[in-house]
Amino acid sequence: MTGPALDPKSFGKVGVLLGGRSAEREVSIMSGTGVLQALRSRGIDAHPFDPATQPLAELEAARFDRAFIALHGRFGEDGTIQGVLETLRVPYTGSGVQASSIAIDKLITKRLWAAEEIPTPAWRELHAHTDFGQVVAELGDALIVKPVREGSTIGITKVTSHDRNELAAAHEAALAYDDVVIAEELIRGRELTCAILGSGVAARALPLVEIRAPGANYDYQSKYFSDETQYLCPAPVEDWLARDVQQLCLRAYNLLGAGGWGRIDVMLHQDARGDKPYLLELNTSPGMTSHSLVPMAARAEGIDYADLVLEILSQASLGVRA
Ligand SMILES: Nc1ncnc2c1ncn2[C@@H]1O[C@H](COP(=O)(O)OP(=O)(O)O)[C@@H](O)[C@H]1O
Ligand SMILES: [Mg+2]
Repeated sequence: MTGPALDPKSFGKVGVLLGGRSAEREVSIMSGTGVLQALRSRGIDAHPFDPATQPLAELEAARFDRAFIALHGRFGEDGTIQGVLETLRVPYTGSGVQASSIAIDKLITKRLWAAEEIPTPAWRELHAHTDFGQVVAELGDALIVKPVREGSTIGITKVTSHDRNELAAAHEAALAYDDVVIAEELIRGRELTCAILGSGVAARALPLVEIRAPGANYDYQSKYFSDETQYLCPAPVEDWLARDVQQLCLRAYNLLGAGGWGRIDVMLHQDARGDKPYLLELNTSPGMTSHSLVPMAARAEGIDYADLVLEILSQASLGVRA
């Protein structure tokens, strides 16, 4: 980490929020356990807290000086727990209430980005009365259907046929997770992700990671459990392109008012005219398992896992970020 070594006592009593009630509970337990061990390895007085199994009264009674949010998805990454911590006046890691609640919603995020000319794949909202033929006519017949407020590729289907029934089935599958569902134009190309540390003008992008999944099928299974998925960091793209993507991601991050840390998922469309990045989403509480992408990007910059955890924790705050 840059800067002088931090005194572990200066952090006081730290709560590591992990588990939670979202579909990503399992991943969050892995993230939170890693964070907890890292903090303890550096002499910090850190304690786990699982909002799914412990009453909030215990969170208040614990009198934490700071909270590290290692929750993912709803009730952890969506502004709700951030609101609880604001109310209890416990400084916490990552984005505040507003940016968290915006970023959890891929549709709102895309609307804001599109309005500021940040490239994001073309999309349509799907409803019970939607004319799927029209959607295919507008977006093409290679689509990704996704619930707007889920993570870890849960409820996402790739549809690559003219068959409207397939699109209807994908819509149905996504509806199991959210009542708002979008179809996005499928971007064929390389997949990148950009980790960001800090807030506002001090925010900085870490080296990009390229994800190469077997059969270009980056699903829940390969994301967390497959040995076949390859991660390349720094991503083997040209320097100017990496810098462009990083600048774009920083702008997209600041535009949503995000702070502390985050990670933006990007697809790189490639055709005869060159490469064009399309931003998919901002994760305001990204995975922090030992295999996760933000720790990988940090490592490429010489920041080890425990230093990364400390850097994120040292920025814990209340109120408006950035
Ligand atoms: N429009 C798209 N074009 C190509 N691939 C996509 C598109 N949207 C999503 N994907 C693939 O699905 C994965 C998950 O999508 P994403 O929007 O990041 O949702 P989440 O990570 O919250 O499940 C991405 O990492 C990417 O591999
Ligand atoms: Mg994603």
